[in-house]
Amino acid sequence: MADLYWVMFGAAVVVLAIVVGALVTAGIRFRERPGVQARQYHGNTLLELIWTIVPTLMVISFSVLSYQRLTLVNDVDSGAAMTVQAEGKQWVWGFQYPADAKFKLSDGTYLKAAEELHIPVGQKVKIELSSVDVIHSFYIPSLGGHKDAVPGRATAVWIQADRPGRYAGQCSEFCGTGHADMLITVVAQNPIDYAAWQDAAVKQANLFNDPAVAQGKQLFTSLACAGCHTIQGLSGGKVGPELTHLMSKKTPIGGVAGLDVNEANLVKWIGNAPSLKPGIVMPVFSNKVGGPLDDATILAIVKFLETLK
Ligand code: CUA
Repeated sequence: MADLYWVMFGAAVVVLAIVVGALVTAGIRFRERPGVQARQYHGNTLLELIWTIVPTLMVISFSVLSYQRLTLVNDVDSGAAMTVQAEGKQWVWGFQYPADAKFKLSDGTYLKAAEELHIPVGQKVKIELSSVDVIHSFYIPSLGGHKDAVPGRATAVWIQADRPGRYAGQCSEFCGTGHADMLITVVAQNPIDYAAWQDAAVKQANLFNDPAVAQGKQLFTSLACAGCHTIQGLSGGKVGPELTHLMSKKTPIGGVAGLDVNEANLVKWIGNAPSLKPGIVMPVFSNKVGGPLDDATILAIVKFLETLK
C-alpha cells in the first residue's frame, strides 16, 4: 500500500509542478504592463486534448494499480503459513492458535492467548476475526491490514512481519469505555526463537491442565487456605495476605528475609509457618484425621500456587 502511495504521490507532485509552473510563467510573461497589452485566447485543440487525455490515462492507471494492490491485500488465503483466530470482546482481543501439533495442550485443546500474539517472521499469517459483542477493528499499523470484527459475520485479514520485533496495535473502532485500552502486541520471531517460545507457552498453558495443579486448587478451596487468603476470582479471605499474583512478588514469603518465593520455600512455609515466623497466625495444618498434612498434599497446593503469576 505504501509503494502505491508513493507512486501516486510522485505523480501528484509532477502534476502540481507543471500546473503551478505554467500558471506562474503565464502570469509573468503575458501580464499587462506598460507597453504590453494582455491578450485573450480562445480554444486550443492540442492543449485541450493533452489535458484531457493525460489525466484520463493517469486515473485509469491508478485504478488498475489500486485494483491489483487491493486484490493482494484482500487475498487472505494464498500462501498463508498459519491461521489464527482473533476474537474481539469488550475490551480485550483473544487469540486462538491453529489446531497444529505444536500448539496442542495436554487437555486436547490448542494454545490460546490474550492481547499478545506471536508470529513467525517473514510468513503470511491469516487472522480470522470475530466479535462476541460490538464492532471492533483489528489494526497493527506497521504490519498492514485493518479490518472490522463484526458480531455474526466472519471477516479476515492477513499480516506479515519482515523483521523480528514487537509491533503495537490497537482496536480502531470505538467500542465503549475500554476502547482505548484494547491494545494488541504482535511479537514476530525468527524460527529458533519462535520454536522456543512455542515450547514455553505450551508448557505454561499445560501447567493449568496438570492434575497436581487441579488437585491443589481444589485443596486450596476445600482446606483452610481460602478462608484467610484472597485469590481474585477464587477466594476472598482477608486474614492473610492476598495471593493473586504470588509468583510475581519480590518480597520474601511472609516478609521473612531470605525466604524467597519458590517451590521449596512454599512447601516449608505451608508445612510449618510458625517455625519460620514465630508467633504468626498461620498455624501448622492437620489433615482430616488430625495428623500432619502429607507432602503430596502440600506439594499439590504449591503446584497450584505456582500458577499465580
Ligand atoms: Cu474494541 Cu475499540
